[in-house]
Amino acid sequence: MSTAEHLILRELLAKDPNWVSGTALAAKLGVSRVAVWQHMEKLRAAGFTFEAQRARGYRIAARPTSLCAPLIETELRVRPRGFSLLVLDEVDSTNDEAARQLSAGRPAPFAVMARRQTRGRGRFGRVWHSASSENLYASFAFRPQVEPERMQTFTLWMGVNVCELLTKFAAVTPGIKWPNDILFNGRKAGGMLTEARIDTDHIRDLVFGFGLNVNSPAGGWPADLADRAISLAEVKGGPLDLNRLAAALIGRVMLAYDLFVSGDHLKTFADLWHRYDLLRGRPVTLLEGGRRHTGVVAGLDDEGALLLRDSHGKSHRFRAGEVTLEK
Ligand code: BTN
Repeated sequence: MSTAEHLILRELLAKDPNWVSGTALAAKLGVSRVAVWQHMEKLRAAGFTFEAQRARGYRIAARPTSLCAPLIETELRVRPRGFSLLVLDEVDSTNDEAARQLSAGRPAPFAVMARRQTRGRGRFGRVWHSASSENLYASFAFRPQVEPERMQTFTLWMGVNVCELLTKFAAVTPGIKWPNDILFNGRKAGGMLTEARIDTDHIRDLVFGFGLNVNSPAGGWPADLADRAISLAEVKGGPLDLNRLAAALIGRVMLAYDLFVSGDHLKTFADLWHRYDLLRGRPVTLLEGGRRHTGVVAGLDDEGALLLRDSHGKSHRFRAGEVTLEK
């Protein structure tokens, strides 16, 4: 999308729902009214609908409801330094596409988003239901200059940042189930999948994948997810602006990444984790490598491992595993 189209979009969004005259747009861009009209056609092809009247000019009639790169870019309050965005109609997995782009030398940081994934995946190779362009499938790619051991708490840190973002953006109350699930009312709305490629003792690159059920309607889930999944729209009782949310997510993830790399995240991580943690003090079962462990969650250690206290009062730490809350 050209700079001219960005500028036109910014003007129209700033004035929305009012009109912007074609002459004013032409003067602002230093081009003819015909050129403005040609730019408007490109924006139409990207999913916008405009009203046009000879005497009044243009105004936005409808915004795209699925992911739209120009709209996300325009909604970005601060463009993170060096950041680029790729929005695809369909892809196997945004995590895989991000890894391919990294291998091809694309400068990081960047994000890959898609309206649909054909092979969206979660932890333990599980399928991430990705058929609906009303939801968010996003992967962020980085080349972090930090020791691999430091990345152990990365997903947890990103999780609390996602919770903060959703709290502020949508006035909802999310919770996080260690290590990577975002829940509302006991149902899963979001999941994170961080994948790093490590060369002997340094991180070559890292992809942070995030899937969020945004506007799927109640009852829109496959049978096996029907009583386990939820969307933000279900929680709120109405749809959210997907593109504005995508832009806010980019801002939050980029900020969170910088804080993590500098180590400044340690100032707030523990408090934020307490705020959103759904497990502390709760009896759980943890499945790890085919073994079941039961106990009460005592919290996290410095490396982000889950601490479980068994029925004898003995503490056990787990770096990975699948947690189920006991009733
Ligand atoms: C999980 O809950 O196990 C993690 C789910 C992660 C899903 C996201 S959707 C965007 C990115 N691409 C993928 O294939 N997976 C992640």
